[in-house]
Amino acid sequence: MNNLNLSEKSKNYYEENDIYEIFSIAEDYPNKIYKCLLPKVKNKIVLDLGCGTGKFMQKFYKETDKYYGLDLSNEQLKIAKNKVKSDNVQFICCSAENIPLSDNSIDVIISTWVLGTIQEIDRRNKVLDEMKRVLKHDGNIYLVENDIGGEFEEIRNRYPNIKRTKDYNDWIESKGFICYDKFETYFKFKDKKQAKKIFNNIWGEEVVGNKVKSNIIKQKIIIYKV
Ligand SMILES: C[S@@+](CC[C@H](N)C(=O)[O-])C[C@H]1O[C@@H](n2cnc3c(N)ncnc32)[C@H](O)[C@@H]1O
Repeated sequence: MNNLNLSEKSKNYYEENDIYEIFSIAEDYPNKIYKCLLPKVKNKIVLDLGCGTGKFMQKFYKETDKYYGLDLSNEQLKIAKNKVKSDNVQFICCSAENIPLSDNSIDVIISTWVLGTIQEIDRRNKVLDEMKRVLKHDGNIYLVENDIGGEFEEIRNRYPNIKRTKDYNDWIESKGFICYDKFETYFKFKDKKQAKKIFNNIWGEEVVGNKVKSNIIKQKIIIYKV
């Protein structure tokens, strides 16, 4: 396992998933993403692709007809399973490159900060092909991603040099996704010490430096839709 900034094999999805869980709970503290996507998942068959520790699963599953939580990491899913026990939820531990679901069976796919963790473009493309295969013809995919700029991007050295985020978001748009919504939200940690600890663990002290100024960290979100 490595710690390549929350990339696919990051230690934060495996032996240090407790750190990821604190990060995940703090992220979007005011629930703006939840409020934006809730009307889209209501009474639908939903696939949460790369569901991690179940941040959105926990909020959405009761509103849906069926909720599939898929993730490559069994350690991430273990945390999700402790949060959600319900007959309408099914956990799937596998790579999203081969989704064990039938063609044309899912109404809505949500995927929050997942495709960018996969480094190889051909594997990302395979995941997109799989999403389209399992999606019903009148279904929708929502990708929640980081937008350019803002405090969060600055702390992890993706601002003012915007190339990495821009290249990735341009790639998503090149695949036919359009911007569905964008807004600013924020992380809320217990205190500044906790925020520093989590950011240092994930991105390293040499990247984070003294850029964490408080327990609140602003984050710009873009939601793509197809
Ligand atoms: C940044 S986390 C996001 C987790 C969750 N969606 C959230 O919002 O908290 C990325 C997640 O994608 C999962 N992941 C990475 N590559 C994957 C793949 N090829 N197939 C399935 N899941 C993958 C990781 O294990 C991790 O849980």
